[in-house]
Amino acid sequence: MSQQQKIIPFILRETPSLIESVLPVQKLSVDVYKERMAGSGQTLTGLGSYWKGRKPLVLNKACILGCLLPATKNIKRDLEVFELLMGMDEVTLSKRYGLPKPKELLAQLKLPNIWDYFDVSPPELRSQLPHSAPFILDDYKVVRSSGSLAKPIISWRKDLSEDQKHSLACAAMPAKAYRELATTVSRVEEINGFAHSHIWEQVNSHLGTDANSFSELINQLGIMRFGRRPVLADTFSGSGQIPFEAARLGCDVIASDLNPIACMLTWGAFNIIGSNVEQKNKIELEQKALIESVRSEIDALNIETDGKGWRGKVYLYCLEITCPETGWRVPLLPSLIISQTKKIVCKLVPDELNKRYRIDIVNNASEDEMTAAKKGSYQDQSMVHTVGGIEYRSKIATIRGDFNDHENGKRIIKNKLRQWEKSEVMYRSDDIFSERLYAIQWIRDDGNSRSDVEFRGITAGDEDREEKVNLYVKKNIEEWQKEGLIPDMKIEPGDKTDEPIRTRGWTYWHQLFNPRQLLLAAIIKKKITSNTAVGFINLLNWNAKLSIWNPGNNNVQQVFANQALNPLYNYGCRGSCWIGQHLVPHYSQFEILSKFKIINDVASGIIDQVDIFVTDPPYGDAVKYEEILEFFIAWLRKNPPKEFSDWIWDSRRALAIKGEDHDFKLSMVDAYKNMTLRMPDNGIQVIMFTHQSGSIWADMANIVWASGLQVTAAWYVVTETDSALREGQYVKGTILLILRKRLQSQEVARDELAYELADEVKKQVDLLTGLNRDSKDFYKDENLFEDADLQMAGYAAALRVLTRYKTIDGVDMPQESLRPRVKGQSTMVDELIEFAVNIANEYLVPEGMDTSIWEKSTGIERLYLKMLDMESKGIFTLSNYQNFAKAFKVRDDGEIMNEAKANKASLKTAKQLGKKGMNAADEFGPTILRSILYAIHILEENKTKPEDVLHQLRDLVPDYFRERSRISALAEYISKKTSALRPEESSNAIVLRDLVRREKV
Ligand SMILES: C[S@@+](CC[C@H](N)C(=O)[O-])C[C@H]1O[C@@H](n2cnc3c(N)ncnc32)[C@H](O)[C@@H]1O
Repeated sequence: MSQQQKIIPFILRETPSLIESVLPVQKLSVDVYKERMAGSGQTLTGLGSYWKGRKPLVLNKACILGCLLPATKNIKRDLEVFELLMGMDEVTLSKRYGLPKPKELLAQLKLPNIWDYFDVSPPELRSQLPHSAPFILDDYKVVRSSGSLAKPIISWRKDLSEDQKHSLACAAMPAKAYRELATTVSRVEEINGFAHSHIWEQVNSHLGTDANSFSELINQLGIMRFGRRPVLADTFSGSGQIPFEAARLGCDVIASDLNPIACMLTWGAFNIIGSNVEQKNKIELEQKALIESVRSEIDALNIETDGKGWRGKVYLYCLEITCPETGWRVPLLPSLIISQTKKIVCKLVPDELNKRYRIDIVNNASEDEMTAAKKGSYQDQSMVHTVGGIEYRSKIATIRGDFNDHENGKRIIKNKLRQWEKSEVMYRSDDIFSERLYAIQWIRDDGNSRSDVEFRGITAGDEDREEKVNLYVKKNIEEWQKEGLIPDMKIEPGDKTDEPIRTRGWTYWHQLFNPRQLLLAAIIKKKITSNTAVGFINLLNWNAKLSIWNPGNNNVQQVFANQALNPLYNYGCRGSCWIGQHLVPHYSQFEILSKFKIINDVASGIIDQVDIFVTDPPYGDAVKYEEILEFFIAWLRKNPPKEFSDWIWDSRRALAIKGEDHDFKLSMVDAYKNMTLRMPDNGIQVIMFTHQSGSIWADMANIVWASGLQVTAAWYVVTETDSALREGQYVKGTILLILRKRLQSQEVARDELAYELADEVKKQVDLLTGLNRDSKDFYKDENLFEDADLQMAGYAAALRVLTRYKTIDGVDMPQESLRPRVKGQSTMVDELIEFAVNIANEYLVPEGMDTSIWEKSTGIERLYLKMLDMESKGIFTLSNYQNFAKAFKVRDDGEIMNEAKANKASLKTAKQLGKKGMNAADEFGPTILRSILYAIHILEENKTKPEDVLHQLRDLVPDYFRERSRISALAEYISKKTSALRPEESSNAIVLRDLVRREKV
């Protein structure tokens, strides 16, 4: 044990934080991506996959550590220590990867003495093996003392610790980029406890701490900075991802949110995932007791079993509508396929007498039947059926009587649908729609999860059971609503909530559930505790009339597969055999030892003293939490479990921060002003928000100003998973703004600001590119920072410089920033930000380009050269082309652009540029680069003799002979950058280079 260090309170009081100087955003993006791809395997997601927009824990960890760690004079070492703590170092990576077999290490590593690490069995064989590695163990057969031949078995020496083994094994890790490595290894939290055992000596020696765990380190850093264990708050805590990570690391935590479902999820994160063994056992007992008692109540009602040993697992329902032309009652099925994998379809069999369809189930359907079943009786928003050989098609909107109306100057669609009353749970016989059960998936009722399952059509017995459920629910509904066992809350109209009201006539939240679902949920609701409430809410997400039946995986889907409330034409309803799965969330336990407090209030209401705020505020209506979560709030509104009874069970839509207009700005300022007030002078904040549009920067600058804060750094981390990228959306990431209190009231003139901005951008770009250059990263070819990060340096610098000042050109900025934006008008702040970003972009010399040639290039040449470099790296994002065009002051990039699609933008190739646009009037036309591309093009055509190509080039380039070395360098650059994309162009570029070089003068 090292001699106890003396931890000096406040020694870091004035020291900038690491996150204000560096952050390895590329590696962080990889780990974020990895966490996201874990889907339901993410630590807190098991509590509620319906919560959208969870901020990855690994990103939160980076922010929290980044705020507490100091930025010292040795930035490189700061970064290394940060990576040790984040589990990005080579030894942790080896732990995440797993130990290879000793014989693999012997084959790969240079080891002067293998016996420092390994033992051999039987031991007498030691002398017969080489003393040093590398060697191939399988090549050796050795002689035992008995004289027989044996294969030696090599194992690790027993006295080596796991850390020692991994320190050796990491040298044999494949030499891949972090991106590739990290996607194949475990996440750090999956090997928690063991991941960090090797780091503390290095961490302590750099930081002057004496820690052996995160909790100790956080406590000591907190004392050094704030004089106490740090208190971290998130006033927009949502599902609790930020506060949970902070508590797991060892901060004392305050989590607050306006929405009670958010508070409940955060409560679950701390108390269920963060429980200790004793609590966990208690929770499990409660869950078990609940499941047993619900099952026995359902069984007593006799509504799920067929009396022959089978139980209803999934019930499939669809809507029916009357065909206006034939008077037939037609089921609305978008597809007749019930199971794709098991080849089960349903068949609509006409019942002439009753003018309706019987729905039969066909097992083992033929290929033709499967293909035919793809088309159902609901196609292109219309009901479709055939009677007497004639096909009838009617738009649902027409049958429903949709018409346009106006309310408060807004166009709205109305229709003839009847609005349901509070006590109603079913369509009435005179309604436009009705609903019917059309198939049941049965499971053999022997309690075995691998039991047989089969689909059957509906029998008289099923109809009786259905009737029993309906009557039971009708009889009890008012009582249940009074007791709070099912919702009695009206659906308030809104962007997302209008849909069920308008398209079905449902006006109360319980109407989004059918009687069978209501009955099951009411029985559970009567019995839940705080520990089981989280599971109960989870169950509602998987069992409502908005739960899609997926014939691909034979399963009922969650309501919130997206962030909307979409009523369906057919859906799946889960039987009680599912309750175990929903009420017992699958999770790994991480005991939380720190203090935590959960508050259900507006962000501006927090009154505690807080050292660090890390927040992820709502922005741009990405998710309408305040509307969609009413789906759940309605259930806990009356009689919530006692731990949640102080919370306001209402989404308080009016108080929720939303949109991005002036009101959004004002409520954000309210929230952040209060946070500034609650922070000590050396307090620090991180605000996370999703990058959506360029104007966000000016918005944020204004909010920061008016809240009495100033920006000290900004980072960009890619948080989108690749499926979004594949769909061709803009790459979305998370911006991290680092903020401090603005303690001084400085003034500045706008002219001076320009110089200061230029200086600041240059400093930041130099720092980041310098770190790239010096990085002795063991990962292959890895850039710590890429162009996008360097561009970010422009934004960061702009916000850093601007928000430092209270007054610019005599204008009081905190006041000014509260003024509403005038549409279409750019403000001084917009212009200054753009100025800074352009400066940052100008610094970005492409890889492999000689600076002296770069400096001689025109704007449009630079754009072409820069984008060629990007394309060679597989980056085709349109916004890059646009940003750089702006930075290089290109008037019209149309001359050089081939495609201008979001993620599929591209330059014209030499061939596509061809002969056109070579005039002096063109921007690209008369440049040297353009002439070179033309020469490459005619070489590619192979119709002109090489010496004639040179001849033409000489004519095109003024002062040709002096420019020869530049021409050959540019030709070589083009060749390198096009080698993978366009090999032919690449080889012709080299031909041109050689022609120019070898030319006799
Ligand atoms: C982007 S989400 C936070 C997500 C969270 N970081 C997570 O990982 O789950 C924003 C949160 O702000 C909450 N919110 C909106 N307006 C609020 C207000 N005025 N005061 C407090 N919370 C508010 C919403 O309920 C929502 O939970």
